[in-house]
Amino acid sequence: MAIQVQENKKIFTIHTENTSYQMKVDGYGHLLHLYYGGGVYGSMEYLVTYGDRGFSGNPYDAGEDRTYSLDALPQEYPVQGTGDFRTPGLVVQNGDGSFSSDLRYRGYAVRKGKYGLPGLPAMYAEPCEDGVETLELYLEDKVSRLSVTLLYGVFPQHDIITRAVKIENEGSGAVRLEKVHSACLDFLSGEFELIQFYGRHAMERNMQRTPVSHGAQVIGSRRGTSSHQYSPFVILAEQGATEDYGGCYGLSFVYSGGFKAEVEKDQFDQIRVSMGLQDEMFCHELGAGAVFYGPEVVMSYSGRGLGPLSRNYHRGFRHNLCRGKYKTLPRPVLLNNWEATYFDFTGDRIYEIAKQASGLGVEMLVLDDGWFGKRDSDCSGLGDWFVNEEKLGGTLKSLAERINGLGMKFGLWIEPEMISEDSDLYRAHPDWAFAIPGRRPVVSRSQLVLDFSRKEVVDAVFDQISGVLDHANVEYVKWDMNRSITDVYSAVMAGCGGTGACSQGDVLYRYMLGLYDFLERMNRRYPDLLIEGCSGGGGRFDAGMLYYTPQIWCSDNTDAIDRIRIQYGTSFGYPVSAVGSHVSAVPNHQTGRVTSMKTRGVVAMAGSFGYELDLNRITEEEKQCVKAQIQEFHKYWNLIHNGDYYRLTNPFADAAVAAWMFVSEEKTEALLNVVTLETHGNPNTVRVRLRGLQPDAVYRDAETGMVYPGSGLMNAGVPVPVMTGEYQAWQMHLVLSHG
Ligand code: GLA
Repeated sequence: MAIQVQENKKIFTIHTENTSYQMKVDGYGHLLHLYYGGGVYGSMEYLVTYGDRGFSGNPYDAGEDRTYSLDALPQEYPVQGTGDFRTPGLVVQNGDGSFSSDLRYRGYAVRKGKYGLPGLPAMYAEPCEDGVETLELYLEDKVSRLSVTLLYGVFPQHDIITRAVKIENEGSGAVRLEKVHSACLDFLSGEFELIQFYGRHAMERNMQRTPVSHGAQVIGSRRGTSSHQYSPFVILAEQGATEDYGGCYGLSFVYSGGFKAEVEKDQFDQIRVSMGLQDEMFCHELGAGAVFYGPEVVMSYSGRGLGPLSRNYHRGFRHNLCRGKYKTLPRPVLLNNWEATYFDFTGDRIYEIAKQASGLGVEMLVLDDGWFGKRDSDCSGLGDWFVNEEKLGGTLKSLAERINGLGMKFGLWIEPEMISEDSDLYRAHPDWAFAIPGRRPVVSRSQLVLDFSRKEVVDAVFDQISGVLDHANVEYVKWDMNRSITDVYSAVMAGCGGTGACSQGDVLYRYMLGLYDFLERMNRRYPDLLIEGCSGGGGRFDAGMLYYTPQIWCSDNTDAIDRIRIQYGTSFGYPVSAVGSHVSAVPNHQTGRVTSMKTRGVVAMAGSFGYELDLNRITEEEKQCVKAQIQEFHKYWNLIHNGDYYRLTNPFADAAVAAWMFVSEEKTEALLNVVTLETHGNPNTVRVRLRGLQPDAVYRDAETGMVYPGSGLMNAGVPVPVMTGEYQAWQMHLVLSHG
């Protein structure tokens, strides 16, 4: 049993293969957090100490006991108003106008399988999957009659524990939820570093590591999406933790909208980490009998460094978050026409690009932006999802058939959440776009955002898009979202003015429910459709989207060298199979950098592989390279997507080479990838130390036949062949040697 309950002591312990998590209900009914970390057996209650601390008040029920203060005790779900002045997980304004809550334990339940969250993405257990369990802990505020259920999902084999929260108003009047976090972890001691992944458009998920110090460190997004700027994934690592040393905790938010992650070191050097919904512009009115769900946070702990922590997330998300046919099937190698043509194409031009691509082994042609409405630039047409047959020179059906005739699948770009002012949809329904009465909205990429909190808007766009998909053989969709959300105001919801209602504070959350509803309907209606998420590249690269779209376009930056960094940062929290990655033209359109076809291929193969250029415009030699590359990708696909991923260098710190590798689960096969980042005369030999092999096994380089001891490759490394020229790539395919 993963979940153990000691009824007499009211201790709840969750065990995964290598970790334990423990909570206890104390004598006053408060739920204390006792422990999270490497496996422990027995009560960890001894860790908690009590002392009379000035200015840390005591709950009334503690009577004369001045040593009992929630300002110092480790709590499982801290609220405001109990005398704990640290960052709260939940802030409620009660019907009487006060802001205090007092949650006490009411009961628990343990169930087989994994809880789900209505309308929200969440990890799931397969029906045949043993060992996955759910713990529900019931808390209540007897005065406000708010009930809070803390939900825990346990995936022992991945060392993953998920958390979510359900809030129910059992009282007779409305209350306002002003902040809802889903997970909170209190640490009694330890020196930690916060690792987070910041960025910008076309340069997402740079890694930053800072010591956790007194005060609060906060990251989050107010953009209505999880954002390019901050990733909803953070790591709290013991100081000095490396790829394979030290304790580290991950928190990943399964949500694609605004979020907040807070880390606070308190007056007693204790640390609190908390993650949940963005609280700015958030206010949810919870009427009598109503229920609210806080989205899921996926937590994992590794006592052996950052590498195993990442692999917990990789396996967990691949097996228990991504869904659909392409969860396990190889993704077709695609060619996307965006960087080949931008808006400037005809049906014939697309066909010519597809024809050349299919001759070289590409399996799918994706028609990007510009095929619909009046859309020859990014200034118009969004919202008008009808095929521009004049531009295509025929119907979409016939274009798809021509592409299918080449033995290729056909895919299509859409951006359903957006609307151009210059569109028929906007002319017919201007109030469907977010805008605040009396104010001019902020415009971005010449577009406005549709109010997806309104069902009729979602329905209307869904009808348009399904009208297209129903009438042509479209086997893949790239779902884009190309701006941050501003002017959040829904024309059909009540304002706050004096009425006490605060439904405008609910619009962003409801927007996400509308988006998820649309995506869910897509998955149901087209179960074989492969959907790739995208938001100007990786502006919505999060675990929430992965529930609906098993891959996400990682960045609009296709430069191989920048991509090494972007994909490195992404790899900490997300599997390689989720990373959309393409070979594009040189000089690269974003950086002007020139790299070889081989290097571009090696980098793009660390993802859902494809091309994004006109293959008619490359040399004969490059064409042969593309052909060989696709064959190689097929050969290595299973190893890359289903194997274990190891980071071997840090491209933000190591100047000479970038290296990473894939190792099969049984450790019988591995693929080493190296790209040189510097070039010098009379160069030094660089040796890369491998990871994840069997130390006592011997491996053979499948190409040269050279044999190497696994222990040697890991302890001393392998010399990288000297390659002249900038940014050269080298791969070594190792197989277990039986000779
Ligand atoms: C976004 C995407 C690109 C491309 C364009 C089309 O920027 O990230 O890949 O699809 O939109 O407008």
